[in-house]
Amino acid sequence: MSRVVELGGLRMGSAEVASAVEALVQKRRSIRDYVQEPIGRDLILEVLSLAGRAPSAWNLQPWRFVAVTDAAHRETLQAAAFGQNQVGRAPVTVVVYSDMVDTLARIDSVLRADLAPEAKAKTRQSIIGFFETLTDSQRDQWGRAQANIALGYLLLILEAYGLGSSPMLGFDAVQVRSLFGLPDHAEVVALVAFGRPAEEGRASQRHEVASLVRWA
Ligand SMILES: Cc1cc2nc3c(=O)[nH]c(=O)nc-3n(C[C@H](O)[C@H](O)[C@H](O)COP(=O)(O)O)c2cc1C
Repeated sequence: MSRVVELGGLRMGSAEVASAVEALVQKRRSIRDYVQEPIGRDLILEVLSLAGRAPSAWNLQPWRFVAVTDAAHRETLQAAAFGQNQVGRAPVTVVVYSDMVDTLARIDSVLRADLAPEAKAKTRQSIIGFFETLTDSQRDQWGRAQANIALGYLLLILEAYGLGSSPMLGFDAVQVRSLFGLPDHAEVVALVAFGRPAEEGRASQRHEVASLVRWA
């Protein structure tokens, strides 16, 4: 029997929730052309806020975003993305990046509020201690891995909002950092162009799950 689940004020059976999620996952594909109309800042903030609900180790939330909507910036970003058309066509492209220096400067705000002061100090020290064992580059790769979780969330959230999106790794990270004044330690995880879809996207092609899974 399907349980009842409260979702954003909606009461749905758990079977309905599962089939809505399944439909989103099955339907999502990369969209590289968009209706030529702007997407408002409120909507952009809403989808980024939901993407930021992604889990991360120690809840450090190292993802950061640049929401690029300005026409001149979109043009220069397109050049930094090797001229990829979708950046020119999309009303918004979000630069998803991680910043471990900012993340570690904000540790106090992610320590659980219900912890006693000594427990907080201990957790803080174990996090700092862990990062002291890493090189700066290993620390930044750690942040990149966590930010990729938010990237996955973002792609599905955009689909849920009826927005088509195109994740991209085809860009020059040095140019992207310089365009938006990001620090050298920032890891640019992906560009995500999005807007109302103006195409269907390509046929989906995936490995059979049985060929990817081993049982133990
Ligand atoms: C991290 C990442 C980087 C990608 N980079 C590019 C890219 O630079 N340009 C592009 O056209 N597509 C890019 N793609 C899209 C993939 O080619 C696409 O996701 C894959 O073929 C599966 O198709 P689907 O997204 O329609 O399901 C990227 C996808 C991901 C997840």
